[in-house]
Amino acid sequence: MNDLATPSTMHALVYKGPGKPVFERHARPAITAPGDAIVRVTRTTICGTDLHILKGDLPSCTPGRILGHEGVGVIESVGAAVTTFKPGDHVLISCVSACGRCEYCRRGMYSHCTTGGWILGNTIDGTQAEFVRIPHADTSLYPIPAGVDEEALVLLSDILPTGFECGVLNGKVAPGATLAIVGAGPIGLAALLTAQFYSPGMIIMIDLDDKRLAVAMTFGATHTINSGDGKAVAALMALTDNKGVDTAIEAVGIPATFELCEQIVAAGGIIANIGVHGLPVALHLERLWDRNIAITTRLVDTSSTPMLLKVLKAGKIDAKKLITHRFKLDAILEAYETFGDAAKTGALKVIIEA
Ligand SMILES: NC(=O)c1ccc[n+]([C@@H]2O[C@H](COP(=O)([O-])OP(=O)(O)OC[C@H]3O[C@@H](n4cnc5c(N)ncnc54)[C@H](O)[C@@H]3O)[C@@H](O)[C@H]2O)c1
Ligand SMILES: [Zn+2]
Ligand SMILES: [Zn+2]
Repeated sequence: MNDLATPSTMHALVYKGPGKPVFERHARPAITAPGDAIVRVTRTTICGTDLHILKGDLPSCTPGRILGHEGVGVIESVGAAVTTFKPGDHVLISCVSACGRCEYCRRGMYSHCTTGGWILGNTIDGTQAEFVRIPHADTSLYPIPAGVDEEALVLLSDILPTGFECGVLNGKVAPGATLAIVGAGPIGLAALLTAQFYSPGMIIMIDLDDKRLAVAMTFGATHTINSGDGKAVAALMALTDNKGVDTAIEAVGIPATFELCEQIVAAGGIIANIGVHGLPVALHLERLWDRNIAITTRLVDTSSTPMLLKVLKAGKIDAKKLITHRFKLDAILEAYETFGDAAKTGALKVIIEA
């Protein structure tokens, strides 16, 4: 850290190219449009997507970018057009910025906002810093209700709406129905927590990692299958009277797990894809054409955030169970190492206190 620091600079985690995260002094953000707010970040976290960026998988994020698209904080200043928030307000930052006015926003499809969408920590500087500029602040920030735990709220920026919207809502999870979730990472576990709003009869978690499967059992899974032996389909069919599942949620993002969903979906069922895919996947229509199934894809819109805020406030889900580690902002590189080596460290979500 630099002792000669002036108030015009701050600490931030900056992407300097593949494999190069650097924690350094950086210029503080300033208001550049009337709809902007500057937020002093109090808590943020790291997402699997940040690891994708660091691997060089997302060319939209260029070197020099401050990473991070999740967090909570306090409003520092607002542009002239911001009417909902004022300095001092406690806010939740959505990973998706939304103008609220374009044709996609008017349909609630904020992820495709023509001047927003997922831009934070991607095409504009993000939340892994002391301060962040939030465009379209009125429609991209949420007031934090009094008495709600700040740490749990960090999980509302991205992973809870993602698991719920892309997995549970798109997968039409129904009372008494059978559900399989492939991938027991933070996103699959968020789908597991929020699927229980609808009381499915059976929730089967599938992963390669026995530690994560054990966590899934404590989160409400009824059965787990370790697919490492290549016999997951047979194991699942044995559990479901050879029918397969009504909803198969894909929460990994590789061809093998999507094709597993194709094999385990029941007649009339839905495959709800959440995973970010970098490779083509085979669609076995020779097997599926007569099965009356549907396949959905979605980039999280965060349109469910107001509802999820109420659920957290009411204590209806214990989202904090997803938090396994805590770090100060100046130890963020250590946080990245812990999060990046989840198989060894058992990390799910790491909280970073700014
Ligand atoms: N659609 C969206 O808007 C959106 C938003 C956020 C994240 N995502 C994506 O969701 C996916 C999951 O995110 P995450 O943070 O939970 O990731 P993660 O890497 O932490 O978890 C993935 C899990 O899949 C398991 N896995 C890997 N290969 C497997 C296999 N062959 N069979 C069974 N399990 C296997 C891993 O053990 C791990 O537990 C990622 O692709 C992420 O990019 C999508
Ligand atoms: Zn994310
Ligand atoms: Zn818009």
